[in-house]
Order: sequence, then structure tokens, then C-alpha cells
Amino acid sequence: MEKENDCIHRGIYNISMRLEYYNNGGTKSMGLNERGHILKQAIKWVLDAGDMIRTKMDKPIQIETKSNPNDLVTSVDKETESFLIKRIQAHYPDHALLGEEGHGAHITSLDGTIWIIDPIDGTMNFVHQKRHFAISIGIFHDGIGEIGIVYDVMADTLYYASRGEGAFKNNNRLEPLNDQVQLEKSIIGLNHLWLCENKLVDEKVMQKLVKTVRGVRSSGSAALDMAYVAEGALDAYLAMGLSPWDIAGGTVLVNEVGGRTTNHLGEPLHMLKRNSLLTSRNSIHSDLIQQFLKKGQK
Ligand code: IPD
Ligand code: CA
Ligand code: CA
Repeated sequence: MEKENDCIHRGIYNISMRLEYYNNGGTKSMGLNERGHILKQAIKWVLDAGDMIRTKMDKPIQIETKSNPNDLVTSVDKETESFLIKRIQAHYPDHALLGEEGHGAHITSLDGTIWIIDPIDGTMNFVHQKRHFAISIGIFHDGIGEIGIVYDVMADTLYYASRGEGAFKNNNRLEPLNDQVQLEKSIIGLNHLWLCENKLVDEKVMQKLVKTVRGVRSSGSAALDMAYVAEGALDAYLAMGLSPWDIAGGTVLVNEVGGRTTNHLGEPLHMLKRNSLLTSRNSIHSDLIQQFLKKGQK
């Protein structure tokens, strides 16, 4: 694992060196040079946080519930968020922070630089399965997604992206998404609740969708599902209601490979609110909306 992390660090170093050749040309977005340094730093903290989670895995963990009995949070979620927040605050005191476990609840604007953090995305998997969960970070500047990081802790697989510089899985650049794939040959990530009576879309229409596509999957981690869309392992991922920390990192990943990310009706997402989500390769995004999600809209 150490060898692989070293390799990732070397890759990041190369990216940040390449970024040295650019400047931001006076635009409102984050400068490339600055972005390269922040990316390198953020990846190191995420990998260190992953080490910490793995060492805590088999020790006693406190489990509590939040909004409902299935909405879990553990002592490790909270410790991981604090671990990341402490480092970010020490290095970037002028950056804002929004974390699932309580940091930045007062934030009302996306002005400036904001780190949107999910310390463990897929807590139910973490508790029940001890795998298939991720640390997710999206860094936005004046509302623009600049950096996305999704780290599958137990698989030691790191997805990261920097705006305009592409997306990577470990040290390998992800290919732009193929736009020829049609719905009949697609695998869609969605959870079973779409097939039950729900507030958004007629379940009968969703049952038709499930019969139309080649297959469906439900991983239990929105951040990982978005990373799977970015690498082409899923053709789309659909969710009813996600918070900014679930999607901030994945949104940048999918953007960087030319995919589309909107709510389930094709409208832009708001990074400070809960949104429904449809992220996919271009070829099926509007078919999913027109033929199913809008058609069955309640
Ligand atoms: C959850 C996961 C899950 C999604 C839930 C999220 P958490 O995040 O992303 O896949 O279906 O809506 O809340 O609570 O494990 O960080
Ligand atoms: Ca989450
Ligand atoms: Ca979480």
C-alpha cells in the first residue's frame, strides 16, 4: 500500500509541476498553480485519513443514528472529519469548510474557496460491511468545482480530478466518456426506493426503466457511484436526495471526463442545498430525463 501511495504522490507531484507553467490569466477561477498545490496537499491528507480509518476498523466504534434509524454516524466519521478540518484550517485559514458532521452549517454563500467534505460516504457499508465507503472532498472556488477527490479506503483506490486537467484513478488518466453507449446497453446506479412509491417519479415508469437498461447496481456510496460513472464502470447514477458533501467531489470527477451532472430533471445543482441527482455519460442523459424522469414526474 505504501508503495502505491508513493506512486500516487509522485503522480501528483508531476501534475503540480505541469501546473507551474500556467497562470490563471486574471480570471475569477482558482489559479492553476494554486490548484496544483492544494490538490497535492489534499490528497496527502486524504491518504493519511484513510490510514487512520483502517487502523480504527477493528477497534470498538461508537455508532449513533441521526435523522432516522438507518441514518448512521460513527465516532470514526467524526474523528475523520476533525482530522481533515484541523489540517485545512491550519494551512488555509481563509478557506471555508462544509462537512457532513457539523462543520460549516452556517455557510450561505459559495464565494471564495470552500472545501465540501464527507469524511465517510457510505457509513452503512462501513458499519455493516467494512468496505465500499469513501472519503470525498470537493473544493469549489466562487461556485466553480476546482478539485474532486474520492478515495475508496479499503480498496486503496484514489480518484481525483482538477478542473481542466483531467481525472485520474490512482495514477492513470481516465478516458473521456464514450458518447455512443445507448440505454439498452447501460448499467445504471440507483437504489431500490425508485421502484417503490415515491414523491418524485411514478414507480411504474421507473420499473420500465429498469427493464429497458442492461442492469442496475446500488453500491451504498454516492461518491463511489459518481467515481464509477467517471471511469465508465456505470453509465449513469441516479439519486433522489443527496447533500452537497455526497456529490461535491464526484461532480468534479464526472465533469473532467465530459459527463453531465444535473438534478433528475436536468436542472443545475446547488452546492449548498440538497438535490436529486442524475450524472451520466452524455449519450443517455437526456433520454433518461425525457423518456423516464420527466415522463413519470409527479
Ligand atoms: C449516504 C450514501 C448513500 C446515499 C445516501 C447518503 P452517508 O451517505 O452516499 O449512497 O444513498 O443518501 O446519505 O450518510 O453514508 O455519508
Ligand atoms: Ca454521504
Ligand atoms: Ca458521511
